[in-house]
Amino acid sequence: MRTGIYPGSFDPVTYGHLDIIKRSRNICDRLIVAVARNSEKSCLFSSQERMELIQGCCGEFGDFIEVVAFDGLLVEYCRERKVSFIIRGLRSVSDFEYENPMAAVNRKLSPEIETVFLTSREETSLISSRLVREVAGYHSDVSALVPPLVAGKIRQKFPLGR
Ligand code: PNS
Repeated sequence: MRTGIYPGSFDPVTYGHLDIIKRSRNICDRLIVAVARNSEKSCLFSSQERMELIQGCCGEFGDFIEVVAFDGLLVEYCRERKVSFIIRGLRSVSDFEYENPMAAVNRKLSPEIETVFLTSREETSLISSRLVREVAGYHSDVSALVPPLVAGKIRQKFPLGR
C-alpha cells in the first residue's frame, strides 16, 4: 500500500489541484490531501471550509483520498501517518524555485520521504489560488478556474458585479 500526501493551502481548491489529485491515482494507492492550518490568518477560507470544498469536489475519487487538516511540520505529520512520498504540482520555473528549497529541507529533515513533482497540464498551468482570490476580490467570475461548488462559495463572499 503506497500512501502519498498532497499538502497545500488550497485557498481555494482549483481545477489545477483536482488534476494533480486525479493523476496521483497513477502513482499511489491512497492519497492524503492535507490542508495546512498554519496560514489560517491570511486565508480567504478557514481550514474547515477549505477541507469541505475539497471533499465536495472530490466525490469521484471515493476512498482513494482522505482530506485532513494539519499543523506543524509536514514531515512530522508524514511520519505519523506513515506516508512514503509528498506530491506537489509544478506549473512553472518560479514554482520550481519555490518548491526545490522546500523539498531539499524536507529531505534533510526526513531523508526517507521523497518529494514527487507532477507537472501541470497546459489547461491548468496558469491557474493559481492566489489569482482566483484576486479575481474574486474584484467581484468577477471565477467559474473557469474553479469547480462550480467553489465558485458558488466565492460568490457568497463576493457577489458578482458589485
Ligand atoms: O499551497 P502552498 O501554500 O504552496 O503549500 C505550502 C505548504 C503548506 C505545503 C508548506 O508551507 C508546508 O509544508 N507547510 C507546513 C510547515 C512545514 O513543514 N514547513 C517546512 C517546509 S520546508
